[in-house]
Amino acid sequence: MAGLRIAVLKEQAAGETRVAATPETVKKFIALGASFAVEKGAGLNASIADADYAIAGAEVLTAAKAVAGADIVLGVQAPAVSALKGVNAGAWVAATFDPFGQKDRVEAYAKAGLEALAMEFMPRITRAQSMDVLSSQSNLAGYKAVLAAANQYGRAFPMMMTAAGTISATRLFVMGVGVAGLQAIATARRLGAQVSATDVRSATKEQIQSLGAKPVFVESVAGIEGEGAGGYASEMSPEYQAAQADLVSSHIAKQDIVITTALIPGRAAPRLITDAQIATMRPGSVIFDLAVAQGGNVEGSVADRIVERHGVFVMGYSNTPAHLAADTSALYARNLFNFLSAFWDKEAGGPVLDEEIGDAVRLTRGGVVVHERLNA
Ligand code: NAI
Repeated sequence: MAGLRIAVLKEQAAGETRVAATPETVKKFIALGASFAVEKGAGLNASIADADYAIAGAEVLTAAKAVAGADIVLGVQAPAVSALKGVNAGAWVAATFDPFGQKDRVEAYAKAGLEALAMEFMPRITRAQSMDVLSSQSNLAGYKAVLAAANQYGRAFPMMMTAAGTISATRLFVMGVGVAGLQAIATARRLGAQVSATDVRSATKEQIQSLGAKPVFVESVAGIEGEGAGGYASEMSPEYQAAQADLVSSHIAKQDIVITTALIPGRAAPRLITDAQIATMRPGSVIFDLAVAQGGNVEGSVADRIVERHGVFVMGYSNTPAHLAADTSALYARNLFNFLSAFWDKEAGGPVLDEEIGDAVRLTRGGVVVHERLNA
């Protein structure tokens, strides 16, 4: 398919400030032989002007003209099928689809004969690391969570010895030490907090220590690794959950800030902090619930609101990466470029996916839903 055409639309979801291509990735796709169309204003919320896309070689058009004749559409959150009128038959859409939460949209893609490629299903294998949007976005989300909590907190993070007296260091506890949690630890340490952290995967203990933080782990329940498929967490036994709740209760009462990041793929986020536990914290403490959009780790947390419980501020954003749109877009756009360019076939003039990655991310093809996790 010589002259493959790629399009990027302005994101339509409320609060979505990111964009799926940057002038840098536009230039790189054009260097591969593709032509590129960008909807007017697509990058404005991520600090990218239309003129910068044009300089990179993209045509800047209305939405309808941008998608007309497109072979591939790139998105952060998958566009509605109604926004894709005029794309070529069997066009690919590479975006996040929230496949379990938005089954109707997946069905609509199938009906329209589109090929939906769900970036959140990228397998966690070494060669796909540079294509992994969950990692690139979680990393910056972990950073932002600490900054947001620090901003809400009425005290300073580092220990300070001043002529007027000493200020003690903030005690910050990170629950869930995946990609976001590790960055939260590193960020809090840079700001001068005294950091501790916990996870159900025992492999994280060393990672916590190597960042100069203190691991807080359930040791009393033997034989639990907490590790499920692909390096993700599995659901824990009731015995473990009870032991974890005890441990957290005694630890949390001494913390000033808690950042929770715990997720279990395909399930609601595990509840890690109850209202009774919040009540044991000092007034003015802050809890940032990074899992709030997936059901929340903290009882009573509400997306995009600061809820005051027992004098403690409980907060979390529905879309944390959108609060750092310039950087998260840059990384997201590179993930997409790394993905499609890795499979670029010179003769075909475009990407040809292999089975391992293609089957992992492809939701629809030839008019039907083809993904095994959705057809199970
Ligand atoms: P995630 O976003 O699914 O979960 C966040 C963290 O919460 C995880 O560390 C998980 O173990 C933890 N958690 C779940 N339930 C919990 C509970 N009840 N209490 C405390 N913690 C709980 O995970 P994320 O950040 O996407 O990645 C998890 C791991 O996957 C990484 O640390 C890494 O080892 C691996 N990974 C591998 C990649 C690759 O090889 N390409 C890329 C990215 C991550």
